[in-house]
Amino acid sequence: MKRACVIGWPIKHSRSPLIHTYWLKQHGIDGHYDKRAVPPEGLEDFLGSMADDDLVGCNVTVPHKEAVFEAVRVEDEFTERLGAVNTVYFKDGTLIGTNTDGIGFLQNLTNGSPDWSATAGPAMVLGAGGAARAVVAMLLSSGVAEIRVANRTRERAEILADMFTPHAVTVPWDRRDAALEDCALLVNTTSLGMTGSPPLDIALDCLPAAATVNDIVYAPLMTDLLSRAAARGNPVVDGLGMLLHQAAPGFARWFGPTPKVTQELRDLVVRDLEATR
Ligand code: ATR
Repeated sequence: MKRACVIGWPIKHSRSPLIHTYWLKQHGIDGHYDKRAVPPEGLEDFLGSMADDDLVGCNVTVPHKEAVFEAVRVEDEFTERLGAVNTVYFKDGTLIGTNTDGIGFLQNLTNGSPDWSATAGPAMVLGAGGAARAVVAMLLSSGVAEIRVANRTRERAEILADMFTPHAVTVPWDRRDAALEDCALLVNTTSLGMTGSPPLDIALDCLPAAATVNDIVYAPLMTDLLSRAAARGNPVVDGLGMLLHQAAPGFARWFGPTPKVTQELRDLVVRDLEATR
């Protein structure tokens, strides 16, 4: 039986087992996927004993993404640039690390807003953490010419923009409203608007009506940002799809088939999110 898992510290709230177990069942694969709480001091041992534990790979979440990047072989430029790994698999006995957050973001965006195009105009990204980095890198790879990054801590925005200069530029946090002018896309990668976090304070008046608004927060599914954007007619894309789409490449590596993100899977995860709120 093929086994995979997700590691993190803490790991209790991960939905990855729900997603992968659904796909295993759907494809009739005799496999298993669970979650393992691995503290930072246990990471090296975990990676070293994966083969002995009969694991074909794992997903990696907070706080291990950077440490795993340092510990395994990385073969793709996108992950190399990000410096963070969320998916690990074996190739000829060697552990390979990759990052599927960017592709998950892009697939969710293009599925949810088919009319969005990379050449339609600048993108505005709120936040400068790990998620923002994956989003900015992916938008650049898909051909967006200008990305405006606004973050409460200006220094973090500058570090991020410098990584992707000259296409990424910073916008002061207190000028985020006006900077929405002529944007074709707004992405919130901060934790603002999430259940239990403060609301995201941003006025959308300057945002063109055709611009797509994407929130990577998925609890609640319809954030205040998305409902305000939808009310003024902007196409909106919720964050759940990113979580589902980033999981698919790992599943394909470990178990074979490329799984589909279905409405049934979305409903399953939504019900689980609601039950544990
Ligand atoms: P991740 O790696 O998941 O993106 P993170 O690194 O903790 O998570 O980033 C969270 C983002 O939310 C950051 O951009 C953070 O801004 P700072 O860099 O200034 O910390 C942003 N954020 C969190 N709480 C915020 C708040 N109350 N106001 C504004 N931004 C906030």
